[in-house]
Amino acid sequence: MGTGGDEREGTAPDTPDGADDRLWGRAEQAAAFDAIGDRYDEAFPHKEGQLAAAEWLAAAVPPGSRVLDLGCGTGLPTAAQLADAGLRVVGVDLSTGMVGRARANVPKAEFVQADIADLPAGEPLTRGGFAGVTAFFSLLMLRRAEIPTTLRAVYDLLEPGGLLALSMVEADVDDVSIPFLGHTIRVSGYLRDELRQVVTDAGFEVIEEDAYAYAPASADVPPELQVFLRCRRG
Ligand SMILES: C[S@@+](CC[C@H](N)C(=O)[O-])C[C@H]1O[C@@H](n2cnc3c(N)ncnc32)[C@H](O)[C@@H]1O
Repeated sequence: MGTGGDEREGTAPDTPDGADDRLWGRAEQAAAFDAIGDRYDEAFPHKEGQLAAAEWLAAAVPPGSRVLDLGCGTGLPTAAQLADAGLRVVGVDLSTGMVGRARANVPKAEFVQADIADLPAGEPLTRGGFAGVTAFFSLLMLRRAEIPTTLRAVYDLLEPGGLLALSMVEADVDDVSIPFLGHTIRVSGYLRDELRQVVTDAGFEVIEEDAYAYAPASADVPPELQVFLRCRRG
């Protein structure tokens, strides 16, 4: 989803005195995705890798299980795909605009506006309450320092043996600004071996890995290599 090419290195704004450094930049990130809205789905119309990864997860968890979609965007295709497979879906997104779209697109699912790096404890995000979690192109919206702790939180949300399907864009970057569909967003990534290591260090077994070269349907987003990991909570 666009960390390749045309990156401008580390132009993070200074944290203002007294502000919570952890959450600095989130309002801008949310505002960008509020404004991008449905254009995200239009720019990334072909999602074979994502569809296949969600299909794997839906087939592997018990029928009717609770599953969580982190950074759900418009709810399309993933939350809808999981709900249509008969699973009880909770979606989380930082952008209120995206959460509104997801609620309209997937009325069967439950959606929560929250930061995936700072998930609110308790219902509906109960520890050990999910058989599966999907995180497609959402962990890359965090700073690298936040990704291991977020993966540990995902570990805690999963049942023992629960499944995680995640995707990232392969790129050796940490919190860089990139132009994206007429807005500026901040993204991070890893080269593939390092991504696998980060996921493994968080307690997951990587069962399978796929990569797809992807040319988005927008001149504003450069081609990229998308990496999908299918993982199990150890
Ligand atoms: C690239 S889109 C991916 C959407 C969807 N997962 C998909 O692949 O179709 C990233 C999504 O993550 C959301 N997002 C960005 N930062 C986030 C954060 N800190 N917490 C939760 N969601 C976030 C954005 O609002 C956006 O909807």
